[in-house]
Amino acid sequence: MVDDILRTPGAVRDAERWTAHNYHPLPVVISSAEGAWLTDVDGRRYLDCLAGYSALNFGHRHPQLIAAAHAQLDRLTLTSRAFIHDQFADFCRELAELCGKDLVLPMNTGAEAVETGIKVARKWGYQVKGVSPGQANIVVAEGNFHGRTTTIVSFSTDEDARADFGPYTPGFTVVPYGDLAALTAAIDENTVAVLLEPIQGEQGVVVPPEGYLPGVRQVCTERDVLFIADEIQSGLGRTGATFACDHEGVVPDMYLLGKALGGGIVPVSAVAANTDVLGVLKPGQHGSTFGGNPLACAVAIEVVRLLATGEFQRRSAELGERLRAGLEGLVGKGLVGVRVRGLWAGLDIDPALMSGREACERLMERGVLAKDTHGSTIRLAPPLVITEEEIDQAVTALAEVLAG
Ligand SMILES: Cc1ncc(COP(=O)(O)O)c(C=O)c1O
Repeated sequence: MVDDILRTPGAVRDAERWTAHNYHPLPVVISSAEGAWLTDVDGRRYLDCLAGYSALNFGHRHPQLIAAAHAQLDRLTLTSRAFIHDQFADFCRELAELCGKDLVLPMNTGAEAVETGIKVARKWGYQVKGVSPGQANIVVAEGNFHGRTTTIVSFSTDEDARADFGPYTPGFTVVPYGDLAALTAAIDENTVAVLLEPIQGEQGVVVPPEGYLPGVRQVCTERDVLFIADEIQSGLGRTGATFACDHEGVVPDMYLLGKALGGGIVPVSAVAANTDVLGVLKPGQHGSTFGGNPLACAVAIEVVRLLATGEFQRRSAELGERLRAGLEGLVGKGLVGVRVRGLWAGLDIDPALMSGREACERLMERGVLAKDTHGSTIRLAPPLVITEEEIDQAVTALAEVLAG
């Protein structure tokens, strides 16, 4: 095909012309997808190694999820929480059971789940723990990524995410990630929660040292502080377990979930916790017009049922070992570091070779779509329906890119 009849360049130009430039996407324009594969407007196919930042854990258009969405579209899409609909209780119950918690509070985006977690923790602090009015603080980690609201970026350590969005919300103490002593020292009588990603995804799939999460659990219990695990990216099968916390046998007081919960179809997020925590909210104190809507619940019920079988967690664990073996073979051949948990990998490319962005552009030319995070780090998070052969294909493409 000659360049002037390709649709991609014009489509890229149009997208840039009509939107704020808050993203720098790869110059590819997708028009359809199935499973682990994307097709662009010119008919070229790509292996999806980002999976919508883990929102597509079950692949594009998983038949069970699409069927649930279609069926629900034909019956009822929105009621608001002013009325109860017939998908609501099943969703909340099945998700609560998956989490081993009493209650679920549904929202839409991940950032909303985080905001909800912060609000609940503060209210719990004042009403249950007995913190003096206005004094609550929450301990968070350097390198965190919890979303984009003004409160959340207030405790970001990424200048791009934070700069010029002040005045910032007070009440957060930032400590180095993975440093239990620093975290323990930061807790005082006004601390209501520790908010952490059990693995820092946006930071480049950073896995904390073994023993860190159990240590956080223990200190939170001892000091009467809620442990809030932001599993929005790490949860729901991505790491080879239902939750990343499971790898260390840790049960937080609150799970924050999102992304894959909506099956890649609708935004669905949720907070799951026990009654002593989520029970602090009373009517009128928190809410969302779209949170827990019938379409969202219908899709998310099927997501929870897919996870309840354990099949996707197993796939992720098994295929993750193949991914790990392939990627570790490239250390010293263009990679300087690799971190893998299930089907989630952070790769540090030798900065002398190329940036993460350049690597992703070259991968795209070889039919693999991935995303850089910071500098020369890229993240791979393929849909959990990816096959062994497709993993090998991605690793081979990366090897070719690194070999120049
Ligand atoms: C760990 C974590 N928390 C929260 C969010 C925010 O989710 P959303 O973009 O749906 O608001 C993200 C998004 O990448 C995330 O990775």
